[in-house]
Amino acid sequence: MMIDLLYLIAAVCFILALKGLSSPESATSGNFTGIVGMVFACLAAYLSTDLSNMPLTLLAICIGGSIGVYIARSLSMTALPEMVAGFHSLVGMAAVLVAFAAYYAPNVFNIMGNYNQIYKSSLIEMGLGVAIGAITFSGSLIAFAKLHEIYKGNNVPKELNIFLGSSIVCLLIYFVLVNSQCAFWILTVLSFILGATLIMPIGGADMPVVVSMLNSYSGWAASGIGFTLHNDLLIITGALVGASGAILSYIMCKGMNRSLFNVIFPSGDDTYGTAKSTAQVRPYKQGSPEDAAFILKNAKSVIVVPGYGMATSQAQHALKEMGDILKKNGTTVRYAIHPVAGRMPGHMNVLLAEANVPYEDVFELDEINRDFATCDVAYVIGANDVTNPAAKNDPSSSIYGMPIFEVDKAKIVLFLKRSMGTGYAGVDNELFYSQNTMMLLGDAKKTTESIVKAM
Ligand code: TAP
Repeated sequence: MMIDLLYLIAAVCFILALKGLSSPESATSGNFTGIVGMVFACLAAYLSTDLSNMPLTLLAICIGGSIGVYIARSLSMTALPEMVAGFHSLVGMAAVLVAFAAYYAPNVFNIMGNYNQIYKSSLIEMGLGVAIGAITFSGSLIAFAKLHEIYKGNNVPKELNIFLGSSIVCLLIYFVLVNSQCAFWILTVLSFILGATLIMPIGGADMPVVVSMLNSYSGWAASGIGFTLHNDLLIITGALVGASGAILSYIMCKGMNRSLFNVIFPSGDDTYGTAKSTAQVRPYKQGSPEDAAFILKNAKSVIVVPGYGMATSQAQHALKEMGDILKKNGTTVRYAIHPVAGRMPGHMNVLLAEANVPYEDVFELDEINRDFATCDVAYVIGANDVTNPAAKNDPSSSIYGMPIFEVDKAKIVLFLKRSMGTGYAGVDNELFYSQNTMMLLGDAKKTTESIVKAM
């Protein structure tokens, strides 16, 4: 009774945490509610097990916790998607191991060994758990390697994935009907292979969707473990993660104007994120921080477009300082955030919030895109793909169809980056050579600090 109550409190906390995390204003309290929920969940889990295992459990918590703290502290913010992918792989492997443990030692899990209805439904859970878990595990490892840039990816024929997928479904049905040990093993191996072959051909710029999709898979895998372990909280939490990951994948696909199907099954010519730059030496206008300061001081309205480069250079504080000076000067300063700017969902929001940029100055793509046509200066700081007109004008481009900020419509575009190189998708940006663009080459933080100084 007591344990059920603790689980219920934890489940409610997790739901409230998700609600809190859905907006920057309530994100901190949402995070805290999640932590409280996790404490209740752990408490309930320990009280419901054999307490003689306590020293071993505490040792496991200490080791796991220390590794977690070390990874979280040593990893940079830009490497967060990799970390998430790495953690998903662990959830996937946990699902596989629990399914195997339940299959080979059903008594431990209170699953009756003879072939009755209870056992049959457990076979469904084990089969699904092992399949989703194995796909999540190998898929997350490949996503990690790609995000970490230690593996570039390979083309995999769509037909192979369809064949593997259908074989897994057939094996799953056969396994449940016949309880074949051999089918269970083949199912596991094929699922590991499918996880890898699904993610291998997916291009770099689609990785955010992949990570969120794997997040969803890991949720369903955890939910599957919950059924096997008869743990209601794990079922609820897994379903929450599974559903929220799926919704986030959908939102991101919408943000890039891509269908989830095309992301998961890219065609051979879909080299999104892996294109090589064919940049030729062409004339462009280059300015100094002093030039930029002069232009900004005379602007009535400025829209800042932050991107990955702002994150790597940690320019958000200098940017806020610049925004404050401009505001004192009577200039309207707004910040435009693209759904896939940076390297993870909400990346830019977190950095701007860290620098205390007011939430009311931060706008999403749909809210602000039309205003570029009437603004004096678009201050593009370390962003590239999210402004690239090729997404609108060039049907042969790998980023064609992705919604972009129409910064080219601003009177003047100040473009802060270190070189004339491409962004994540590897596609040249026509905007650099446009008449109204001034390139400010150099580290974004240093350039912005110099502009602040000059102002
Ligand atoms: P990108 O297109 O990657 O462009 C970032 C630009 O920042 C680069 O062109 C780089 O040019 C510049 N830069 C890097 N370090 C800099 C520094 N220290 N100072 C100044 N500039 C610097 O970024 P974006 O516009 O934010 O677009 C994001 C891309 O990543 C999209 O293609 C998106 O699909 C993909 N992606 C997004 C996510 C999520 S969920 N947000 C996750 C993974 C991938 P230089 O090298 O010349 O300086």
